[in-house]
Amino acid sequence: MPENNVVTASEACEILGVSPDTFRKIARENQLLTISDPTDGRVRLYDRSSIEALRKAPPLISTRHRVITISNNKGGVAKTTSAISLAAEAANDGFKALLIDAAPQASATTSLFDDKPASTSKAPVLLSWLKGDVPFEELIKPVRFQEFTFDCIPSHPQNDQIDRSNPLEVVPALREFFETWDESPYDFVFIDTDPSFGTLVSMAQVGSHFVLCPVQADVLSVDGTAQLTRQLQRARAINRSPFPSLLGFFLTRFDARRRVCKEAMETLKATFPGMVLETVIPDNVRITESPAQKAPINLTAPDSKGALAYRSLWKEILERVERTTRTTP
Ligand SMILES: Nc1ncnc2c1ncn2[C@@H]1O[C@H](COP(=O)(O)OP(=O)(O)OP(=O)(O)O)[C@@H](O)[C@H]1O
Ligand SMILES: [Mg+2]
Repeated sequence: MPENNVVTASEACEILGVSPDTFRKIARENQLLTISDPTDGRVRLYDRSSIEALRKAPPLISTRHRVITISNNKGGVAKTTSAISLAAEAANDGFKALLIDAAPQASATTSLFDDKPASTSKAPVLLSWLKGDVPFEELIKPVRFQEFTFDCIPSHPQNDQIDRSNPLEVVPALREFFETWDESPYDFVFIDTDPSFGTLVSMAQVGSHFVLCPVQADVLSVDGTAQLTRQLQRARAINRSPFPSLLGFFLTRFDARRRVCKEAMETLKATFPGMVLETVIPDNVRITESPAQKAPINLTAPDSKGALAYRSLWKEILERVERTTRTTP
């Protein structure tokens, strides 16, 4: 390699917008050639054009798992319903999925497990892991159905203490863990969040490759989406990386007969061209009934309009994830 066409590892990190840990993985997986710096034999130099070519390619996910946070600062827009339904669709499709309930109100946990996350519960939750009391793997509980299984990290009201922890320690914690979790058995990790701007939500977003935003089909909910895009810009600046990227918006509780729903869709498409998923989730009573049956909609009412819509949403998400990123061979 001619000397003026080479860069150091830290220059390569700058060009690619990744951390040194991630760059080491990228270098290994892409088998990047190096030469030693003639002025200091300990320093490795990389071919500049190979690094530039990597920058132009879709961003690389260098772990087995792809992490998707379901987030919207507005409450009651179907974040929890969507997180459970998508984890169940992924599992039904043969993927190994983990659902992290990162919401202190623990709705996903109560929708899947019989035992309530009472404040007396001794089961370890994210807070226990962040305090260093238990390894991450000990938080994981299987959710078993006859048709498929996925894993879940249940939540607990005590998790709201995370919002009062030191953000400098907490916010990067999941990202640092996920980046170096080489034994991860998962293809997809879904994270359900509360409607807030707190530390816990930032931790989930910063730890994710993608953020997916359900929007209820009314104008106020659509207005709230601008806050999310600002949050994601901050998260990318913290990570110095293209992640978390916005996977897209999709409309929930959609009623095609109501004008407000169609207007919400048009406004969203005009504000975020190309970022609104085609699938809409209809307002469907079978979805409302699912949590009481402690199972996802694709099992409680597989032929319902709600279940079919979530199936189609999952297919669209999978296609988008595969089209917009690369994974290691
Ligand atoms: N498509 C739908 N049709 C009918 N009911 C729905 C639909 N989607 C969600 N719901 C119901 O709306 C309520 C709110 O949904 P969900 O709990 O998923 O929202 P959320 O965004 O997680 O709320 P929060 O902001 O409180 O976390 C629940 O009772 C849920 O069953
Ligand atoms: Mg919720």
